[in-house]
Amino acid sequence: MSSDEASSPLNPDGKNRFYSDALLTKGKSRGRSLTNCSKLLIACILLLLLLLLVIVLVAVFVVVLHKVVAEEVAEPWKSKRLPSSAKPETYDITLNVDLDTLTVTGEESINVKVVENTQWILLQYSESMNITSVDVLDSGKSQEGVSNELHPDNEYVAISKEGDFNKNKVYTVVVKFSYYLYSGGLSGFYNSTYNEDGEAVVLATTQFEPIYARKAFPCFDEPAMKANFTITIVHPNTTIALSNMPILAMHNDEDGVITTHFAPSVPMSTYLVAFIVCEFKFTTSLTNASVNVSVYARPSLVNDTKYSLDIAVQVLEYYEQFFGINYPLIKMDLVAIPDFNAGAMENWGLVTYRETALLVTENVSSSADKQWVTEVVAHELAHQWFGNLVTMAWWQDLWLNEGFATYISYLGTNICHPEWNYLDFFIIGDLHVALEADGFNETHPIIQSAETLSEINGFMGMEEFRLGLNHYLNKHKYGNAKSADLWSALQGVVENVPYNITAVMDTWTIQGGYPILTVTLTDGCAKLKVTQERFVIVPTDPKDFAKSEFNYIWKVPINFITDSNPDPSETFWLNKKEDEFTRTSLSKDCKWLKANFGELGFYRVNYEDAQWTALTDLLNTDHTQLQTADRANLLDDAVSLSIAGFITPMQALDLVSYLKQETDYIALRVGLLSLSQIHTKVILSKVEGSFTDYVLCLLETEIEEAVGTFPNATTGHLENLKRSLILKYALLYGNTTFAGLALDEFESFMAGTKEPVPDLKDVILTAGIREGGQAEWEFLWNKYVESDNPTEQSAILSALSYTKEPWLIQLYLDRSLTEVRSQDGLTVLRRLASNSYAWPYLWNFFKENYDELFNRYGSSLSFGRAITAATGHFTTQNQLDELEMFFSNRDAGSGIVALKSGIEQIKSNINWLDKNLDNIDNWLHEFLLANCNKM
Ligand SMILES: *[C@@H]1O[C@H](CO)[C@@H](O)[C@H](O)[C@H]1NC(C)=O
Ligand SMILES: *[C@@H]1O[C@H](CO)[C@@H](O)[C@H](O)[C@H]1NC(C)=O
Ligand SMILES: *[C@@H]1O[C@H](CO)[C@@H](O)[C@H](O)[C@H]1NC(C)=O
Ligand SMILES: *[C@@H]1O[C@H](CO)[C@@H](O)[C@H](O)[C@H]1NC(C)=O
Ligand SMILES: *[C@@H]1O[C@H](CO)[C@@H](O)[C@H](O)[C@H]1NC(C)=O
Ligand SMILES: *[C@@H]1O[C@H](CO)[C@@H](O)[C@H](O)[C@H]1NC(C)=O
Ligand SMILES: [Zn+2]
Repeated sequence: MSSDEASSPLNPDGKNRFYSDALLTKGKSRGRSLTNCSKLLIACILLLLLLLLVIVLVAVFVVVLHKVVAEEVAEPWKSKRLPSSAKPETYDITLNVDLDTLTVTGEESINVKVVENTQWILLQYSESMNITSVDVLDSGKSQEGVSNELHPDNEYVAISKEGDFNKNKVYTVVVKFSYYLYSGGLSGFYNSTYNEDGEAVVLATTQFEPIYARKAFPCFDEPAMKANFTITIVHPNTTIALSNMPILAMHNDEDGVITTHFAPSVPMSTYLVAFIVCEFKFTTSLTNASVNVSVYARPSLVNDTKYSLDIAVQVLEYYEQFFGINYPLIKMDLVAIPDFNAGAMENWGLVTYRETALLVTENVSSSADKQWVTEVVAHELAHQWFGNLVTMAWWQDLWLNEGFATYISYLGTNICHPEWNYLDFFIIGDLHVALEADGFNETHPIIQSAETLSEINGFMGMEEFRLGLNHYLNKHKYGNAKSADLWSALQGVVENVPYNITAVMDTWTIQGGYPILTVTLTDGCAKLKVTQERFVIVPTDPKDFAKSEFNYIWKVPINFITDSNPDPSETFWLNKKEDEFTRTSLSKDCKWLKANFGELGFYRVNYEDAQWTALTDLLNTDHTQLQTADRANLLDDAVSLSIAGFITPMQALDLVSYLKQETDYIALRVGLLSLSQIHTKVILSKVEGSFTDYVLCLLETEIEEAVGTFPNATTGHLENLKRSLILKYALLYGNTTFAGLALDEFESFMAGTKEPVPDLKDVILTAGIREGGQAEWEFLWNKYVESDNPTEQSAILSALSYTKEPWLIQLYLDRSLTEVRSQDGLTVLRRLASNSYAWPYLWNFFKENYDELFNRYGSSLSFGRAITAATGHFTTQNQLDELEMFFSNRDAGSGIVALKSGIEQIKSNINWLDKNLDNIDNWLHEFLLANCNKM
């Protein structure tokens, strides 16, 4: 699955970065080589660590839904897990879809193999469905003494038989059922609506991950219960039907319906099954291995499918070669769904997307929009191997799906657009997000119960890594696997190496969080003392951490560069609390030293004061001596360390101030996001004015350059991303000259005399709303209502949230639950959260509409972000008390993780302001006097 917004990687679920939601563009730099691990053997191990940790948020979501309890008990429906005594082999499912009444009537025959004698066969269903009959056949004969009862608590149909179901027999379970498409929001088999020529057109589509297949047909709804699915759809003759597999046969029945039969599927998990009934049109193309790739959209948008079609073909061809395993189906459909909760879903052979994640409109889509489409297509196609062909045995290993799909998607995107330097985006897209999300006390280890494994010796280069993946995929194809299986596959391809993959990985997967290393020079740069402790944003007594069998000691690979030794060839392993390393090859004379070369390691680093000063001097005098990734690393580490109290904010700001000379997009973006973290804290304090002046002063040169080309089109992906970023900050931090220019452009747009170029549309619309009033807001709202283009609508939704008018903010909040598509409701909240004028209204709105919000989004991935949107700006004890009070008797659903880290974040804000506000105030005044023209 993909998350629902391009900005999501930059909007770290639960963090309160002021502009993170709005600024989703990314940028230029050196090609940091994830692909070049063989040079730096350690890199691939580091990569594994990253992948694991990146995915923690998603994993927690699913683990929250499913506590792992699996035992054969007398009353098996009391367990959340299916008993292991029966397994499905094939499903034969016929669904009759009536789009007028939005009713589905279905019948299915499941061949179930009984593995142990048992009185019970359990299927999962949903209470929103009527079960009309349940029969059990043995060799075609209906069985006597079979009865069934429903246990809605854990969603079971329990089928029992007098005498037992016998071991090794295959029974056929026949179930008839019916339900309404609208019974469960945007999950299960559901209805979606769009306008075509002024008429509302309805379609039916599916979203099953993680546990919603049961809403469409009763089934063994666990990822390890793989089976072959044969799907038949009866649908109106005005529509087409799509499913995972190609069509076998179609016939026109009487009464205006068609029956479409699909080929039997390969063995697969229920959460990957999909079907769609719609009136869509498509474009199509063949890969060099003759896979038929098609992109479907509503008819008025079919021309916007061409970009993603091209990407999908390229990426599919590349993955076949990368994995060394062919895509196993003869077709791949990508479908743009008008109502879709997540970003996309990797259903085998029938991937579904929200429209903005698949469609690119000439003259409407910006560089950032295009990049998101590329990324999401590459992510979902990677799942066809990681996730679909080999599936995690249970949801706690979801990272095996998501971590790899995310990692591989960087390679896939990079193949399509080498000029984007896309591998560098890993830092902002995933690494910093994960470091931030995992820096709370109440984080969860990714894997809750790991097994003891055979010894694995080694770490590896890229070619071995790829070979290891190939072995892993081949060994487990059409089956399921655990993290341990991956370790052993990787171990299998390396020999005679001094490290034990399992032992290393266990320290990262079984315990939560990550370390901060403190590096002390004991003999110049030749001898270093390094200690480790867990990094948490609010200083916490280690006694208060959740118990860990590793006592929060990680096995950490470290390397260093210095001014005299820029090559990080030596790698050390810190396997205990504290160790000393002698760098034999290196001279002890050095001006500066930096650890974690290329920011490949998932940890933070602290230095002695003298070293921070040396690094700050280096950046201020010649920042290009460090590659982009290292600069980004120092920016992010310095600000995070200052927030957590390891260094002072003044030390961090001294370092960040080098941004005055920075021109690289990635580094600028990391720096600005870090500054936004501070800005959020000080926005309602006496420091706010100086702080925004400070940021504008740092950006002075860049703003001048960006304004110079405004409002014309420019070329170059990274150039466009950078210009949008800089101008958005200029506007929102109060550069009045630019605000005036942008407002003029908006007025021309409103007068119908000029259309903004796509890459400037966001900032121009935002300026119109920010600087304009009711007339501008209503004009844009009407545009939203009239527009048939989802990408344009999404840009408008974002801009509308920047109004300063209380009543417009309130109106917009109300409309987020009524006139905005349900899929976009939370986006509105999140966008409003980046507008400090909206802060006073968000929390009240959230409280007053909690039940409605919970019903809509409580079990979706993004619910945590709603909590963050409402409370991320809290900086006082009163606000904290109110938040805790509110949730003292309420379920936070999938938002529980965000709630807990949100509380820690607020505590951090309170402490930080208390300790630092006066000092920062003085520092800013001095800086502004010494370095900035008064604006
Ligand atoms: C399910 O059963 C209820 C109660 O008999 C009925 O009101 C409802 O219409 C049925 N739903 C469907 C989809 O048939
Ligand atoms: C699904 O149908 C119901 C009933 O007509 C309607 O209220 C709802 O808005 C529809 N959902 C979508 C996403 O179109
Ligand atoms: C659909 O079926 C109806 C009723 O049989 C028929 O009148 C109509 O022509 C059919 N439409 C199409 C597109 O086949
Ligand atoms: C499931 O499909 C695979 C091929 O995709 C086939 O080899 C296997 O025999 C099928 N299993 C059953 C039980 O039909
Ligand atoms: C798609 O493009 C073609 C060729 O440019 C044009 O004829 C057609 O009208 C377009 N279709 C839509 C739905 O915009
Ligand atoms: C830290 O987390 C642990 C376990 O998750 C919890 O028991 C403890 O109370 C927390 N401590 C603080 C200070 O938040
Ligand atoms: Zn995914």
